Order: sequence, then C-alpha cells, then structure tokens
Amino acid sequence: MEGVALVLSLLLVVVNLDGFSCVYSGSHCIESEKNALIKFSQGFKNPSRSMLSWMLEENCCSWKGVECDNKTGHVITLDLHKQFLQGEFRNSLLGLPYLRHLDMSHIDFLGERIPEFISSFKDLEYLNLSKTNFRGMIPEHLGNLSRLQFLDLSGDFSLRVDNLEWIHSLFSMKILDLSGVDMKSAENWLHDINLLSSLLELRLSACQLVTLPKFLPIFVNFTSLQILDLSLNYFNTRIPSWLFNTSHNLVHLNLSRSRLSGSLPNAFGNMSSLRVLDLSGNSLRGNLPHSFEKMSSFTGYLPPTLPSKLKYLDISDNKMEGPLARSITQLKQLVVLNVSRNCFNDSITEHFLNLTHLRVLDLSSNSFIFNVSATWMPRFQLDSLSLQSCGLGAQFPQWIQTQKELSFIDISRTNISGEVPDWFWNFSAKVYHIDLSGNNFSGEIPEFTESVSLTKLNLSDNNFHGPLPHFSPKMMTLILARNSFNGTIAPVCESLVMNNSLSLLDLSSNFLSGQLSDCWRYGKNLQGLNLGHNDLSGEIPRSIGDLTNLFFLQLQNNSFSKNLPSSLKNITGLKILDVSENSLSGNIPFWLGENLHALEILVLSRNNYDGIIPREICQLTELRVLNLSSNNFRGVIPCDIHNLKILESLDLSSNHLSGSFPPRMGELPSLEFVNFSFNDLTGKIPVGPQFHTFENSSYVGNANLCGFPVSRFCSDHLHEDMVHCSNNNQEVQAIEHEENNNWLDEFSFYISMGIGFYTGFWLFWVTLTLKESWRYAYMRFLENMGNKIYVFAAIRLKNIQAAKGLRNCPN
Ligand SMILES: *[C@@H]1O[C@H](CO)[C@@H](O)[C@H](O)[C@H]1NC(C)=O
Ligand SMILES: *[C@@H]1O[C@H](CO)[C@@H](O)[C@H](O)[C@H]1NC(C)=O
Ligand SMILES: *[C@@H]1O[C@H](CO)[C@@H](O)[C@H](O)[C@H]1NC(C)=O
Ligand SMILES: *[C@@H]1O[C@H](CO)[C@@H](O)[C@H](O)[C@H]1NC(C)=O
Ligand SMILES: *[C@@H]1O[C@H](CO)[C@@H](O)[C@H](O)[C@H]1NC(C)=O
Ligand SMILES: *[C@@H]1O[C@H](CO)[C@@H](O)[C@H](O)[C@H]1NC(C)=O
Ligand SMILES: *[C@@H]1O[C@H](CO)[C@@H](O)[C@H](O)[C@H]1NC(C)=O
Ligand SMILES: *[C@@H]1O[C@H](CO)[C@@H](O)[C@H](O)[C@H]1NC(C)=O
Ligand SMILES: *[C@@H]1O[C@H](CO)[C@@H](O)[C@H](O)[C@H]1NC(C)=O
Ligand SMILES: *[C@@H]1O[C@H](CO)[C@@H](O)[C@H](O)[C@H]1NC(C)=O
Ligand SMILES: *[C@@H]1O[C@H](CO)[C@@H](O)[C@H](O)[C@H]1NC(C)=O
Ligand SMILES: *[C@@H]1O[C@H](CO)[C@@H](O)[C@H](O)[C@H]1NC(C)=O
Repeated sequence: MEGVALVLSLLLVVVNLDGFSCVYSGSHCIESEKNALIKFSQGFKNPSRSMLSWMLEENCCSWKGVECDNKTGHVITLDLHKQFLQGEFRNSLLGLPYLRHLDMSHIDFLGERIPEFISSFKDLEYLNLSKTNFRGMIPEHLGNLSRLQFLDLSGDFSLRVDNLEWIHSLFSMKILDLSGVDMKSAENWLHDINLLSSLLELRLSACQLVTLPKFLPIFVNFTSLQILDLSLNYFNTRIPSWLFNTSHNLVHLNLSRSRLSGSLPNAFGNMSSLRVLDLSGNSLRGNLPHSFEKMSSFTGYLPPTLPSKLKYLDISDNKMEGPLARSITQLKQLVVLNVSRNCFNDSITEHFLNLTHLRVLDLSSNSFIFNVSATWMPRFQLDSLSLQSCGLGAQFPQWIQTQKELSFIDISRTNISGEVPDWFWNFSAKVYHIDLSGNNFSGEIPEFTESVSLTKLNLSDNNFHGPLPHFSPKMMTLILARNSFNGTIAPVCESLVMNNSLSLLDLSSNFLSGQLSDCWRYGKNLQGLNLGHNDLSGEIPRSIGDLTNLFFLQLQNNSFSKNLPSSLKNITGLKILDVSENSLSGNIPFWLGENLHALEILVLSRNNYDGIIPREICQLTELRVLNLSSNNFRGVIPCDIHNLKILESLDLSSNHLSGSFPPRMGELPSLEFVNFSFNDLTGKIPVGPQFHTFENSSYVGNANLCGFPVSRFCSDHLHEDMVHCSNNNQEVQAIEHEENNNWLDEFSFYISMGIGFYTGFWLFWVTLTLKESWRYAYMRFLENMGNKIYVFAAIRLKNIQAAKGLRNCPN
C-alpha cells in the first residue's frame, strides 16, 4: 500500500518535471496547496481511480473533487465522498487554510479520533464526516468553526459527545446531523441546540437520547426548522408542547420509535406546513384529537386537527383507539397512510377513502370493517395494500381489481371465503408479495408463469386443495402450510430445477404423500424447509444434505423410515432439526454431535431409535432444546451432559435409560424444563438451582429414584447438598423475580410468534435468539403445550392469538 502511494507521488514528480501543460479553465493552482493535497492523498492506502487521475493534470484546481476560488486561486472545496478510500486523516490538510467545503463522507479513517486541528479551517461552511469510521469523543474544537452551516457526523455509531456547549458559537448552522452519535450524557442538548436560530434541518436519530424536556425556558428559537428527526431514542415522555411553537415551518417530523406516550395533541392541527409525520412505534394512546368529531358536525368551521397538506402519515404500532375515518377524510393530499397495529375501530366507507393521491394504504391489525359497495371504484391507484385482519366481508373484495399498480398485497386474516377469483391470479408483473393466509379460501391454485415477479406467496391456513403448484423462478418465500394440498411434492422438484432463489419453503400440515425425490441439490439457497405433518414416506433423500445453507429442517409427523442420511453432516449451520413422529430407526448417528455444531433445537422423539445416546451429543454446546423421548434408547445419560451450558429443555422420557444421573448434571444453569419419566433411572436426583424447580411429574415411572422432589432423604451427603443449594438461593430468587416482570415481554413474544407464522418463521427465530426473556416465554409455552411439540406446533396457539389479536392493545 505504501508502494502505491510512493508510485503516485513519483508519477506526480515526473509530470511536474516534464512541464506538462494544457489549457486550464478557471484559476491556477497554488503550489503549496497542491503539495498539501498530494501529501494528504498519500495518507490513503488505496487511492481510487479518480485520485490517480490527479496525476495527469498539473493544475490541481481541475482535479476531481477539488475546486479553487476564481479570484484568489486558493483551494476552497475538497470533496472525496464515496470513493471508498481508507487511511489516515493527515494534518497536511492544514496547507489548505481557505477550505470552505470539506466532504470526507464514506472514507474509512480506521477508527481514529476526529483530529482537533480541523478547527483551524476558519472559513469552513460545509463539513461532512458521515460514515467515516471516526471514533471517540467529538472534539469541542469544532466550536471554532464559526462559519459552519452544514455539519454531518452521522452514521458512525462510535462517536460520542458529552455536552454540546461548543455548538453555541455555530450560529450560522443550517443543517445539523448527528444521527448515531452517542449523546446520552449530553443532557442539555435541547437547550444548546435551541440557540441555533438559523437551523433548517436537525437530525438526531439513534442518539441514545433520554431527555426530551417538556418545556423550554424562554422560547423556541429554531423557528425556521423544517426537518426534525428524533427517531430511535429513549425519551419515555409525552410529545412536548414546545414542538408546536416551531410549527409554522416544520415540514417533516419523525418521532418514530422514540418511546413516546400519551395522546396525540390537538395542536398538530396548527402545523400547517407539515407534509410528513412519522410517529410509528411509540406508545401513543387515545383517540385521534377530539375536534374531529366536532368538525364533522360543524361542517368545516373548526381547523382540522391534522394539517390537510399532509402527504405521509405513519402512526402505526401505537395504542391508539376509536374512530379514524373522519380524520383521514380531511387529508386529501395523503400519499402514504399507515395506521397498522393500533386499536382503531371504525367502519371504512367509500366516502372516507376518497383520496386521490393515495399509494400506500396499511390498515392492518386494527378493528376496521369495510363497508363499500361491490361496484366501488376507488379514486386511488395503490402500490401497496395491507388489510390484515380487517373485516372485508365474506366475498373477495372486487374493488381490488381496479388497482393496476399493486406490488404488495396483504389481505390475510380477513375472513373471506370461497374461491379466489380468476382475475386475481392474473396479477401484473409488478406484484412481488401476496399474503392471503388465514382466510377460508378454497379451490385450487393456478400455475404461476415464469413472467411473474412474485417473490413471496403466503397461502397458509386456508382450504386450498389439489396438487401443489409450480412456482416461478423468482420465488423466495413460499408458504402453503395448513391447507389441503395433496399429491406428491414433484411440482416442487420440477420448479426447483428452474429456481435458484427459493429460501423458505413451508408445506407443513397438508396431505402430501409419496417419497421425496433426490432433487434438493437445486435448492441451494434454501434456508428453511418444513415438510412436517404430511404423509410423506420412504427414506430422507441424500440430496437434502446439499442444502448447505439450511437453518431449519422440519420433517416431523410423517412416515419417514431408515435413518438420517449422513449427507446431513454437511449442513453445518443447521439450527433446528425436527424429525419427530416418524419411523426412523437405528442409532443416533455419531456425526450429529460431531458436525452439527450450530444446532439449537434437536427433536428426535417418537421414532424407533435404539442403542445408546452417543456422547457426541454433548458436543452440541449451542443446544437449547433436546428431545429424545419415546424411542428405545438404552444405557445411561451421557456423563458430559453438563457441557450443554445453555440447554433449556431436556426430554428423555419414555425410553429404557438406566443407571444414575451423571454427577455434574445439576450444573446445567439454564435448564427450565426436564422430563425423565418412564425410564429405569436409579439413584439420586441431581441437586442444583434449576433442579430445585422441577416437579414430581418429571420423574414418574422410574422406580428407584430418590431425593427432591420424589423423596425427602436419599443418602448421607444430603446435608452437604443443602449447603450447596442455599448458596444458590439468591440466584434462584433473582431469576424468579425477573420472570415476574416479564409478562409484557411474554405478550410480545406471542405476538411475534404470530407474526412469525405469517411472515415466515425466520423472523420469529431471530427474535427468539436475540431476546432472552422471550426464550423463557417460549419455554413456558413448550411446557403448556405438553412438551411434545414446539415452534411450528404453535399453530394450535393460533386460536389464542386470534382472541388476543395481533395487536398492541390489551385484549
Ligand atoms: C468560477 O468560474 C466558474 C466558471 O468560469 C463559474 O461556474 C463559477 O461560478 C465561478 N465561481 C465563483 C465562486 O465565482
Ligand atoms: C453527507 O454525505 C452523505 C453521503 O455522501 C450524504 O448522504 C449527506 O446528505 C451529506 N450530508 C449533508 C449535510 O450534505
Ligand atoms: C478552539 O477551541 C478550543 C476549545 O474550545 C480552544 O482551546 C482552542 O484554543 C481553539 N483554537 C483555535 C485555533 O481557536
Ligand atoms: C435565540 O437566538 C438568539 C441569537 O439568534 C440568541 O441571542 C438568544 O439568546 C437565543 N435565545 C434562546 C432562548 O436560546
Ligand atoms: C409557545 O407559544 C405560546 C404562544 O404562542 C407561548 O405562550 C408559549 O410560552 C410558547 N412556549 C414555548 C415553550 O416557547
Ligand atoms: C423515521 O425514522 C425511522 C428510523 O430512523 C426511519 O426508518 C423512517 O424511514 C423515518 N420516516 C420517514 C418518513 O422518513
Ligand atoms: C392553533 O392556532 C390558533 C391560532 O393561532 C390558536 O388560537 C389555537 O389555540 C391553536 N391551537 C392549538 C391546539 O394550539
Ligand atoms: C406500516 O408500519 C408497520 C409498523 O410500523 C410496518 O411494519 C409496515 O411495513 C408499514 N407498512 C407499509 C406499507 O410500509
Ligand atoms: C368502537 O368501539 C367503541 C367502544 O368499544 C364502540 O362504542 C363503537 O361502537 C365501536 N365502533 C365501531 C364502528 O365498531
Ligand atoms: C369524492 O370526492 C369527489 C370530489 O372531491 C366528490 O365529487 C365525490 O362525491 C366524493 N365521493 C364520495 C363517495 O364521497
Ligand atoms: C387429491 O384429493 C382429491 C379430492 O380432494 C382426490 O380426488 C384426488 O385423487 C387426490 N389426489 C391424490 C394424488 O391423492
Ligand atoms: C459433503 O460435501 C462435500 C463437498 O461438497 C462432498 O464431497 C461430500 O460427499 C459431502 N458429504 C456427504 C456425506 O454427502
């Protein structure tokens, strides 16, 4: 790398010696500034193509990214953005003292600190250090740049600022973007920024801000503000009233996901210039402001509570309730309307949706009832339509046929029944997402031609029947679960040959039969495959092992026989393997433990496996769920089982296991559920904080067990164990305490579970993996379900979910 820089400078020298000349446009370059530029460029390890072009031109004022003042010839602009350079920020830049515009965005400065000498550029008006991989504290020296009008330090996520006092002197500031800067210690941020009376645009998204003062001491100073983005912070307060004193010019307000609560203030109606309002993902409650209802009876005498020029309204994912329709009728300019995941209840009529410009309509997960005539011709042409769990009536909504621009269609869980009309399946090449899940649709579905762009199709939880369709080459997610499809899965194989994008295939709970053919090598991109709860038989084909990107493989409740093919050992990233309730036999292959190191859930229950439980299983240190129940396993519990440090559920019931528990078994720190019942285990039940919590039912059917909870006394060592237990008591209490506080999380877990079902399992799984408290909920869920099933079996929970609704509102 050094070499490249050297060559670069040598070439420059050569060019100079040559006296290389050409016709210059504009001013001539000043020698000292040129040298400064060259030295600065030598700080980069990977000079880009356009920087190499610097060598060919003697006049540095014509170099790409460099601009000089016409009169004085001084370099005033240096713009190296998006050249993907990497290296150091050399102080040779100080040789350009007249810089006004400095754009270094997207240059990787390798985690250095922002140099303090940057404050020397007295004329600087524009400084862009966005996504530059600078780290650490922002130097307060920036406050010396008193002419600065544009400052962008966004997108680094490793910059920090403790107070913003230095910003007071930057009174010409027009655009300030500190998004991603850690400002949690800068408690006075608002007061500091309030001094900037010229501010037009303020972006403090994801700044870890916790304070949003209710009041400003004197008055709001930044009244020219047009764009305000405070999204992704942790305010835990109401929408403050001072906001509305900035109201006259505000065009764009983003308070999304900032932990705001309370109701939507009436004063929004006075924000007459507002075009974009994003309040999504907060905890806002209550009705849309009252004056609306008054307004409808007073026919337009009162000001509307939301400015009628609003184009973009997103109040999704809050807890708002009551009517909605009257309010939106006034918003004639709306292009985007997203009120999903609230508790609005209303009847939606043709009159209320009389919005000519609307392109995105998301009313999902509320209690809306559509009350439109069969011949309604909406005046809008939508791109995106989401009506999940709206009441659309029993008939397929005919008005959708008028929408020729649709690319995204979600009418899941809307209680429509009957056949899907033919015109619907003739959708245009623009449609990429269709979700019809959770209705009562029947009939067969057509073949999808190759011309369609459909990438995601979810028809689960309906009554579709007939053979599986062929799918298009672009399909990525295909969910046909819980229908009445029958026949073989040959169409899947035939489509796979043409398709290289499929990443999720869920055909579970249908009436598919026959053997699996060896076509899976074509499905290289598959990440999830669920063929559970069908009538598939024969051997699990070897080519399943070619699906090396698979995260989950579910074949439970079929009639597969023989053993798992050894090719599965190539799927080293597999996280879930469920082959329960089949007729698999033989020993557990030893490679399972040796190769599938990523496994988190392993379910082999209700098969005809025999032999011993191989020690290699204990190498699966990522395991959370291990279920080997209802087989014919003999021998002892492997003694290394304490290696499974994050195991949460262990079911070895209904086998022929014998001997005593391994000595260190009590150490399993994450265990939430065990079942050893109906074996021939003997001796003392393990002692340990987790084992303290299990009940008798975990051990029944073993004649010779002793110790808690089966019997009080066991051996002479009891006293010793009691001491061990009481040392750990506090820990147990802490855990229990924490769990009591988790009901809310648990609720969201169930919600996410529901979402997981309808948008694909992967999302759910990711959340489960990320969020610890959810795992507890999941484990509890396992227990409640009688422990023979997991995750996808949660279908049965669907009714509970339906009762709770997929909403944020309680009940
Ligand atoms: C300098 O000259 C160029 C072309 O002659 C012109 O486009 C530009 O506006 C001038 N800049 C200043 C600052 O006068
Ligand atoms: C800074 O640069 C980034 C990327 O080049 C750009 O998106 C952003 O708009 C710039 N910021 C300002 C304030 O111009
Ligand atoms: C810039 O600001 C810092 C701290 O705010 C100060 O110590 C320093 O003297 C200033 N430098 C110049 C060149 O003004
Ligand atoms: C408002 O800005 C002016 C300068 O533009 C300043 O003098 C004044 O102190 C500021 N007021 C407040 C309350 O910050
Ligand atoms: C907002 O403006 C009103 C008058 O329009 C004034 O009474 C109030 O003090 C102002 N509040 C703030 C925080 O500036
Ligand atoms: C508001 O901010 C969030 C989070 O930064 C972003 O995802 C969203 O697109 C923004 N909304 C608008 C309308 O720009
Ligand atoms: C809206 O503005 C009008 C006139 O400026 C004022 O009388 C009214 O109180 C304001 N409404 C709210 C809710 O702030
Ligand atoms: C509406 O908002 C929800 C939640 O904030 C989001 O998941 C959904 O994608 C949005 N809908 C559209 C059409 O953008
Ligand atoms: C909405 O809910 C309220 C209270 O639960 C009820 O009084 C009202 O009739 C409902 N409105 C509609 C249109 O369902
Ligand atoms: C829709 O709006 C147009 C003009 O704004 C009006 O003529 C028409 O009657 C409205 N339709 C309904 C159903 O309100
Ligand atoms: C599928 O089911 C239908 C009845 O619903 C039946 O007529 C047909 O023979 C079945 N096909 C196969 C391959 O089992
Ligand atoms: C695993 O993959 C390798 C290389 O792709 C292949 O040679 C080998 O046969 C596969 N192993 C099994 C057991 O299929």
